[in-house]
Amino acid sequence: MVEKLVIVGMRAGGVELVEYIRHINKIEKRWEIIGFFDENESLKEYDGIPLLGSWDWVKNANINEYKFIISIGNPLVKKRIATELREKFNVNFCNIVHPTAIVSKNAEIGEGNIIGPFSIIQPNVKLGNHIFIGPYVCIGHDSIIKDYCTLNAGSIISGYNIIKEMCYLGTGAKTIQKIIMNESSLLGAGSVLYTNLEAYCSAKGVPAKVFFRRNLKI
Ligand SMILES: CC(C)(COP(=O)(O)OP(=O)(O)OC[C@H]1O[C@@H](n2cnc3c(N)ncnc32)[C@H](O)[C@@H]1OP(=O)(O)O)[C@@H](O)C(=O)NCCC(=O)NCCS
Repeated sequence: MVEKLVIVGMRAGGVELVEYIRHINKIEKRWEIIGFFDENESLKEYDGIPLLGSWDWVKNANINEYKFIISIGNPLVKKRIATELREKFNVNFCNIVHPTAIVSKNAEIGEGNIIGPFSIIQPNVKLGNHIFIGPYVCIGHDSIIKDYCTLNAGSIISGYNIIKEMCYLGTGAKTIQKIIMNESSLLGAGSVLYTNLEAYCSAKGVPAKVFFRRNLKI
């Protein structure tokens, strides 16, 4: 069955997703991309796919006809937009899994998630909602990834990790086994985390050290 899809976010994440969907459709026509939702209405189109509009478009569209997927890297922005789309407009979200991804049949996956090319989701992993998993990401067995996290290309989460809401892993960042990354923490590109990371903190390097603490909950 072909469903109509709205991609939320027209920047790098959104256009990357267009390519993933084209790969899915080559195997079996699954999605008709009707366009992008973006708060920046100066963007016009990407490769023939139009910008539909921003919140005014959502208010006036027959949104029950569409599935939505958010492809935005910044977890804070992603959470704000997802919450509004869900609570005010009750939109239907879907998951997009690239055909080259390997997803264990024993993994639990929520909604609104993107799993990129060549990524591996190992047995007993639990994914929440609205998680962006880029290309070549590995999520180790028995790990839990909570809502709105962004795991950029080549990042590796070892086994038995808990990655709480709104965490961000830069390109090629890694964690060892049994790590807890607390809410809204960031691990810089290429860094390796050997110890738990406090909430609202950013860490970088090998071994990763905290270099920034936000005072306020975001
Ligand atoms: C960690 C990070 C958030 C720091 O950003 P920032 O606060 O703007 O820091 P700067 O880039 O100004 O760098 C400050 C210092 O940290 C170093 N540094 C930056 N990122 C680093 C990293 N990932 N690991 C180790 N050191 C790093 C810089 O070399 C610089 O060192 P210096 O002070 O000795 O010159 C950022 O570099 C990063 O890794 N972001 C993730 C990017 C990413 O993966 N994006 C994917 C989307 S396409």
